[in-house]
Amino acid sequence: MLARAEQRSDHFRPSLSGRAVQVFFLVKAVLFLVGSNTGVLLNSRESIEHTMVKKVAVIGAGVSGLSSIKCCLDEDLEPTCFEKSDDFGGLWKFAETSKDGMTRVYRSLVTNVCKEMSSYSDFPYQEDYPNFMEHKKFWEYLREFAEHFDLLKYIQFKSTVRSVTQRPDFSETGQWDVVTETDGKQHRAVFDAVMVCSGHFVSPRLPLESFPGIHKFKGQILHSQEYKIPDAFQDKRIVVVGLGNSGADIAVELSRRAAQVFLSTRSGAWVLSRSSRGGYPYNMMLTRRCNNFTARILPSCFTNWRTQKRFNHENYGLSVVKGKESKFIVNDELPSCILCGKVTMKTSIKDFTESSVIFEDGTTEVNIDVLIFSTGYEFSFPFFEEHLKSLCTKNMLYKRVFPPNLERTTLAIIGLITLTGSVLAGTELQARWATRVFKGLCNIPPSQKLMAEATKKEQLIKRGVIKDPREDVLDFISYMDEIAQCIGSKPNIPLLFLTDPRLAWEVYFGPCSPYQYRLMGPGKWDGARNVIMTQWDRTIKPLKTRTLPKSPETATLSRSLKVWVVPLLLASLILFYKSSLFPKLLQDKLQGRVFPSRILWYINQNP
Ligand SMILES: Cc1cc2nc3c(=O)[nH]c(=O)nc-3n(C[C@H](O)[C@H](O)[C@H](O)COP(=O)(O)OP(=O)(O)OC[C@H]3O[C@@H](n4cnc5c(N)ncnc54)[C@H](O)[C@@H]3O)c2cc1C
Ligand SMILES: NC(=O)c1ccc[n+]([C@@H]2O[C@H](COP(=O)([O-])OP(=O)(O)OC[C@H]3O[C@@H](n4cnc5c(N)ncnc54)[C@H](OP(=O)(O)O)[C@@H]3O)[C@@H](O)[C@H]2O)c1
Repeated sequence: MLARAEQRSDHFRPSLSGRAVQVFFLVKAVLFLVGSNTGVLLNSRESIEHTMVKKVAVIGAGVSGLSSIKCCLDEDLEPTCFEKSDDFGGLWKFAETSKDGMTRVYRSLVTNVCKEMSSYSDFPYQEDYPNFMEHKKFWEYLREFAEHFDLLKYIQFKSTVRSVTQRPDFSETGQWDVVTETDGKQHRAVFDAVMVCSGHFVSPRLPLESFPGIHKFKGQILHSQEYKIPDAFQDKRIVVVGLGNSGADIAVELSRRAAQVFLSTRSGAWVLSRSSRGGYPYNMMLTRRCNNFTARILPSCFTNWRTQKRFNHENYGLSVVKGKESKFIVNDELPSCILCGKVTMKTSIKDFTESSVIFEDGTTEVNIDVLIFSTGYEFSFPFFEEHLKSLCTKNMLYKRVFPPNLERTTLAIIGLITLTGSVLAGTELQARWATRVFKGLCNIPPSQKLMAEATKKEQLIKRGVIKDPREDVLDFISYMDEIAQCIGSKPNIPLLFLTDPRLAWEVYFGPCSPYQYRLMGPGKWDGARNVIMTQWDRTIKPLKTRTLPKSPETATLSRSLKVWVVPLLLASLILFYKSSLFPKLLQDKLQGRVFPSRILWYINQNP
C-alpha cells in the first residue's frame, strides 16, 4: 500500500515576505524553461496592488469550497468559508429528504468518474478505494482531504451568505462587504476577495412551458432533486422525463420495483459503461492526450462508432436525434433494462390526460401514476445585486471564472462548469488560478476588454452566428490545459520527452489524470511523478480481492511454452533463411545487382 501521507505535502507555499523580486525572477526562469507562460504575467504595479489581498471569503464548503480553502492556504491567504448547512461536502452529503431545498445525491448514487481521474491533484485516493464509488465513500475521501490539510477549522457552519456587495472604495481596494446569517443573527465583514463555490445545481429546472397540458395530469409529479430511494414507487407505472445521468439512474433503479418505467427523451444519448476495454475504467481509457489529438483529426462519427460497438443505440431507442448535439451519459445497466423490457424508451411528450401521457410519435401510455422530471438544474447567486448577477453568467465569465467589468479582479466563481471529466479536478485548477490572480501572480486582460468581448459574444449568440455555449459540456483536457496555461503549470510534453521519456509517455499516451498539473510550474508537487507512474497499480489493487495460486495446468503450459517456443522460433528462422530466396535477393539488391528478370522469376515461383 502506498504511504499516502508520504506522497503528499511539500506544497508550494510562496511567502508573503518582501521576496517579490526573487519570486519574480524564479517564476520567469521556470516559465522560460517550461515555455508555457502565456497568461502568466508579473507586472510590478499590478503585483504590488494585488499583494494587498489577504482575507478571502469562500462561499460554500462542497468540493469547490474545499479546493478553494486549500488553494488560499497554499498562497498564504486567509480563507473564511461560510457553509449554510451543518456539514461539508455539498451535494455529496447524503440526506434522507430534500426538505432544506438543497440538491444532494440519492442513496444509490455511484460516481461516474473513476478515482484516479477525479482526485485532488496532490492527494491520491488510498489504493484500496474502489474505482467508482458510492457517494458515502466519495464523501469519506473529501473528509480525508479536509482533515489532512486541516481545512475544517476555516469553515463556519450554519452560516448563510445573504449578500456580497462591492465596498464604496472598491475601485482602489477591490474589497467586498459580506453579510452572513447564523442562528437568525446577521453579521457583516469586509473581505479582500471572494470565491463563490455555492454550487451549479441549485434549483430544479422544471420546464413546464415545454409540456402543454400538464395541468390535466392528476398523478404524482416530482423532480429528480426530491428522489432519494425507490421504496415509495412499488408497482407504479412511471414516466421519467429527460435522459441525463439522473434520468437514466432513476429509471434503472425504479425498474426493479415499479410495474413499468417509461423513459422519455427529446434527443437521445450515447450510453457509456463504467468499464471499458479490458475492464479498465472508461475515463482512463478515453481521457488521454493522444485520443484528443486523434479526435481532433477524425470526424465525430468515429467516436460514435466506438460507442456503437457496445450495442446498437438505434435498436435500443437511444440514438441521438439528427441535428442535436451528441450527449454522453454513463450507465452500466440501462441497455440491459431495455433489453429485458423493464425500461421502455419513448420520444418527447406531446400532451397529457388525467392519467395518460401522449408522446410525439403518437403513442399513448395509460394509467400512469408518477411523472419524474429529471430535467436538470438551474444555478443562481441570490446574494448578488442585479448588475453582478448579469456579469456572472456562463457566457460572461472569463474562462468561466472571472466576471468582466470589475475594476479589481477579486471575485471568482468556482465550479460553474460541466466537463467531460471530473468537476472536482476542474474546480481545483480554477481555485489555483483564482488565488494566484488575487495575489497578482497571474494577470487577466483588462476588465473593459473582457466586457467588450463578452458583449460581442452575447450579440453573436442572439443573432445565431455562434452556438450558445451555456449548456456546453467542455472538453476536460482542453479546459484543464487552458487554465493550467494561465497558471504556468500546463505539462510541457516535448520538454518531458527530452528529460523523462517514461513519464512523458504515460502523460501523453496514458490517462490525463489531475496529477499531471502538478509536474511543473507554480504548485509543482514532488510526489506527482510517482503517483502518475503508479496510477494503474491503484486501479487494479481494489479488484484483486481474490488471489488464487496459479493452477498447475496453467503453470505447466506457460513453462512448456517458455521451453519450446524459443527453440522452435529459432529453428524456423534458420529454415526460412536457408530455403528462401529473400536473403539472396537482399544480398543482390545491396550489391546493386537486382535484375528485373530475377524478380519476375521469384514472383512466378511464389504466386
Ligand atoms: C446527482 C449528481 C451527481 C453527480 N455526480 C458526479 C460525479 O460522479 N462525478 C463528478 O465529477 N461530478 C458529479 N457531479 C457534479 C458535482 O456538481 C460536482 O461533483 C461537485 O459536487 C460540485 O461541488 P460544488 O462544491 O461546486 O457544489 P455543491 O456540492 O453543490 O456545494 C455547494 C455548497 O455551497 C453551499 N452554499 C450554497 N449557497 C450558500 C450560501 N448562500 N451561503 C453559504 N453556503 C452556501 C451549499 O450548502 C453547499 O454545501 C454530480 C452532480 C449531481 C447533481
Ligand atoms: N454520478 C452519477 O452517475 C450522476 C448521476 C446523476 C447526475 N449526475 C450529474 O449531475 C448533473 C445533473 O444531471 P441531470 O441528469 O440531473 O441533469 P442534466 O444532465 O442537465 O440532464 C437533464 C436532461 O433533461 C432533459 N431536458 C432538459 N431540458 C428539458 C426541457 N426543456 N424539456 C424536456 N427535457 C429537458 C434533457 O434530456 P433529453 O434531451 O433526453 O430530453 C437533459 O439531458 C450532471 O452533471 C450529471 O453528470 C451524475
